[in-house]
Amino acid sequence: MSRLIVISNRVSAPRGSHSGAQGGLAVALSAALREHRGIWFGWSGDITDQFTGHINFQREEDVTTATIDLEEQDVEEYYNGYANRTLWPLFHYRIDLAEYERGFAGGYQRVNERFAETVFPLIEADDVVWIQDYHLLPLGTELRRRNVTNRIGFFLHIPWPPRRLLSTLPEADELARGLFAYDVIGFQTEEWLEAFRDFVSKEMGAEIDGDDVILDGRRVTAIACPIGIDAAEFRALAGSTRARLAFRRMRDSAVGRDMIIGVDRLDYSKGLEERFLGYERFLREHPEECKEVFLLQIAPPSRGDVSSYRKIRTTLEGLSGRINGAFADLDWVPIRYVNRGYSRDELAGVYRAARIGLVTPLRDGMNLVAKEYVAAQDPEDPGVLILSRFAGAAQQLSEAVLVNPYSAEELSDAIMLALRMPRDERVRRWRAMMDNIEEQDVLWWRQRFTDSLMSAKRLQDA
Ligand code: G6P
Repeated sequence: MSRLIVISNRVSAPRGSHSGAQGGLAVALSAALREHRGIWFGWSGDITDQFTGHINFQREEDVTTATIDLEEQDVEEYYNGYANRTLWPLFHYRIDLAEYERGFAGGYQRVNERFAETVFPLIEADDVVWIQDYHLLPLGTELRRRNVTNRIGFFLHIPWPPRRLLSTLPEADELARGLFAYDVIGFQTEEWLEAFRDFVSKEMGAEIDGDDVILDGRRVTAIACPIGIDAAEFRALAGSTRARLAFRRMRDSAVGRDMIIGVDRLDYSKGLEERFLGYERFLREHPEECKEVFLLQIAPPSRGDVSSYRKIRTTLEGLSGRINGAFADLDWVPIRYVNRGYSRDELAGVYRAARIGLVTPLRDGMNLVAKEYVAAQDPEDPGVLILSRFAGAAQQLSEAVLVNPYSAEELSDAIMLALRMPRDERVRRWRAMMDNIEEQDVLWWRQRFTDSLMSAKRLQDA
């Protein structure tokens, strides 16, 4: 069995003592790394005065994490700059927010070179390399330049934008060309895969050959491979003591009212402003229902050095304050707006206590909160998932109540529909979604991607 090297911007510690404090992806990748005696390489999150390429190794339960520190200018231009001021907004269809600066592009390239320069001596002959997400699109090219001939896969966790949007990026061709250094590239949905094929064939003259795309003699297999959750692990979390306590706490504090839950990083792509407006519309249109429900919106702050994130935070503070001021009563507030994160086991309990899961991003690569909300439900009396049509998860969870998150009217109607939905319909929809979540779980995702990587036809093998 080959050794696996995972490379991502952030490295999460493997399953440690602090259970429930890590994201689903971290759990998934740690499991893969444990099985393959792997290494997880990335940025430590720390800043150093001068980049040295020194690697800090840590070992826990058969997983080695290897991290490097970056300089302040690296973080500014690569992470806050190109990754989160340029690519993130553009790839989420927000060119109005995207900033195109040569300095950002240069810093992004430099940090990718630094990643390559530091990681390549760790790669041994039979290792398989798996690179994650938009921070590291050119890393494959940089590794090939250093004569790494191993199998290298890349998975994009966020959408791939439509051709005409991507064309606005000065480095679009170069970035897309960089993907041909990989053996396999994975996208969350057919839609993003199609957008990639469309861009490289129409803008760059690439040739499509089944699942493969060929450009200037380089062949890459491009697949749709939706990421899942560890459904069994999440259901077990929902039964844990901390989850039960959180469940009880929510039920007690709800005093018989129906809870609507939203859990999102504080990010403009999550549609929080539109969600609040849709909920406000519901309150206005259904005064009789008003005091029977409340919305708990958990939104831990994210990427606070980027101005568009500070702006959305201020907007949401104003909006939640206005709605609460206008509708609240002595013994009820319509929105509980919380800017902190909770552990996954507590969240599992909170999800289970919620009658409605409101997941309404304007655009999202996948959205695992939607899947976790479903997995946490009581099979006998499940809640209803209201899901944006523009989340990757909607491709699989077609039995959710699907909405257009830009329409306050649709959101308001969906909340009403969910509140009135009879139990047998809730159970039927839940079962259909759960079947998918269990079948296409995180193990399935990982297996499908790595199988495809191991069997990819490579020109150099011919
Ligand atoms: C998204 C991205 C991940 C990223 C995460 C948190 O899910 O696809 O790559 O790690 O957001 O964002 P952050 O900037 O805090 O790493």
